[in-house]
Amino acid sequence: MTKPNDQSKTVLVAGASGYLGRHVVRSLVSEGHRIRALVRDPQRLRDVRALVDEVVVADSRSAEALRGVCNEVDAVITTIGLMSRSGSLTPSDVDLGANLSLLREAERAGVRRFIYISVLQRPGMEHLAIVAAKRAFEGELAGSQISSTVVRPNGFFSDMQAFLDMARGGRAYVFGRGAHRINPIDGADVAAVAVSLLEEGQPIVEVGGPDVLTHDEIARRAFVAVHRQPRITHVPGWVARAALSVVRRLPTSVHAVPEFVLTVLSRDLIAPAVGLTSLDHFFRAQGAGWVPLRGKIPLLPGAVAVRRLLGTVFLIAGVSKFFNAFEDVPGRLAAAAQANALSILSGPSQWLCAHAGLVAAAVGAIMVFTGGWQLLGARGFRLAGALQLLMLLCFSLILHRAYPLVVPNDVVFAAAVLWTLPWRHPTPPEHFGSD
Ligand SMILES: NC(=O)c1ccc[n+]([C@@H]2O[C@H](COP(=O)([O-])OP(=O)(O)OC[C@H]3O[C@@H](n4cnc5c(N)ncnc54)[C@H](OP(=O)(O)O)[C@@H]3O)[C@@H](O)[C@H]2O)c1
Repeated sequence: MTKPNDQSKTVLVAGASGYLGRHVVRSLVSEGHRIRALVRDPQRLRDVRALVDEVVVADSRSAEALRGVCNEVDAVITTIGLMSRSGSLTPSDVDLGANLSLLREAERAGVRRFIYISVLQRPGMEHLAIVAAKRAFEGELAGSQISSTVVRPNGFFSDMQAFLDMARGGRAYVFGRGAHRINPIDGADVAAVAVSLLEEGQPIVEVGGPDVLTHDEIARRAFVAVHRQPRITHVPGWVARAALSVVRRLPTSVHAVPEFVLTVLSRDLIAPAVGLTSLDHFFRAQGAGWVPLRGKIPLLPGAVAVRRLLGTVFLIAGVSKFFNAFEDVPGRLAAAAQANALSILSGPSQWLCAHAGLVAAAVGAIMVFTGGWQLLGARGFRLAGALQLLMLLCFSLILHRAYPLVVPNDVVFAAAVLWTLPWRHPTPPEHFGSD
C-alpha cells in the first residue's frame, strides 16, 4: 500500500500483471502514488499484489466490465497489449479494442491524463498487425480530449532473456550476420518515464536503453553472464524471410507476434537512449548463481578417453545387434526366456523373445545413436548417458537370471557412463565477464 504525499495521484494501471505493468506499479509506489490495478487475473500480479491499493478484475475489451473503473482516477497508464499468443485474439481486439474501451471509460469519468505504452516503429513496420493496431489506437488517443502521451519503447530486457536462455543451452542463434543493432531498455526505465509523464509531456516519446548493441554482441554478453564460452550460429537471413512469408499465411491471431518478432530481428532498431540500466547489469542479475555443468567445470580425470572408448564399444555393439552373424540376439533372448520361465520375469522375457527382431533393432539403434553421440562429443551427451543407463537397467532387470554376467557387466558400463558426465562444481567458476 502506498503512503500518499501532497502530489500523490490515483493512477489506474491497466495491464498491471504484465512485465512492464509490474514495473509501473513499483515505480508509482516509489513516487508515493495510489494505485488501482486493472487485471484479468489477480494471481498474475504476483510480487506487486501487496503494493496496489485496489484491484479491479475486468477484461478491458468489454465496455460493460469497465464501467466505473476510472471513477476518481487522476491518470491512466495502460500497458495492455498482445505480446504472446492469446487464443483467438488479434492485436485489433487487444492493442486497439481493449485500450479503446478503456479510453472511452476514462473520457466518461473525466480522467485528466492518459499514458499509453505503444512500441517503437520505423518506416516499413506500419503494415505489421501489432504496429497497425497500436497506430490506430494512437490515432484515437490523439483525437481525444484527454491530455495524453504515447510512449514508444524499444525491445524490453525481458525479451533479451531469450539470449540468456540460449547461452545457458550452450549455443545462441542469431539471424543474418548478427550485425543488426538494437538498444533494448529495462522495463523499470520505461516505467520511470511513464510515471514522470503523469503531469504533462510531449505527445510522443521514444525510449531506448543506453547501449546500442549488435545481436552478436548481445549474445556474447549473455554467454559472459552465464560463464560459458560463446557459441553463436548465424541463421541465414533468407530463413527469417521464408519463415515470415509462411507465418503470414496463418490467421492474424497466430501470425501477429511472430511476424513482429521476425521483422524486428531482421533490421536495425534504435531509439533515443533514455534508459539508464545496462543490459550487462540485467544479464548479470539474471545469470547470477548460474553454474554451468560443463565447459568451465573440469571433467573427472580421463573422462574424455573413457567417453571415446564407451562410444566406440556402444557403436560396435549396436551395429552388431543388426547382424545375427555377430550377435545372435534372438538366440540370447530365447535362452533368457527359458531361464526365466518360472520366475516373475517370465512375462517380460517371453515378450522380448517373441519380439526379438524389434528388440534387436531398438537396442541396436539406441547403442549406435548414443555411442556416436559420445564419440562426437556433441551437446546433449548427458541425454545419451541417461539413455544408456536406462537401457543397462532394463537389461539387468530382464536378463539377470539367464546371464549372471550381465549384472557385473552393467555395473562396469554404468560406472563408465557416470564417469564421463560432468558433475556440478560446488563453487562458481572464474567470472570472465567485465564488470
Ligand atoms: N516486450 C517488449 O519488448 C515490448 C517492447 C516495446 C513495447 N512493448 C509494449 O509494451 C506493452 C507491455 O508489454 P509487456 O512486455 O509488459 O507485455 P505483457 O507482459 O504481455 O503484459 C501485457 C498486459 O496486457 C494485459 N492484457 C492483455 N489483454 C488484455 C485484456 N483484454 N484486458 C485486460 N488486460 C489485458 C495482460 O494481462 P494478463 O496478465 O491477464 O495476460 C498483461 O498484463 C505492450 O503493449 C507491448 O506491445 C513491449
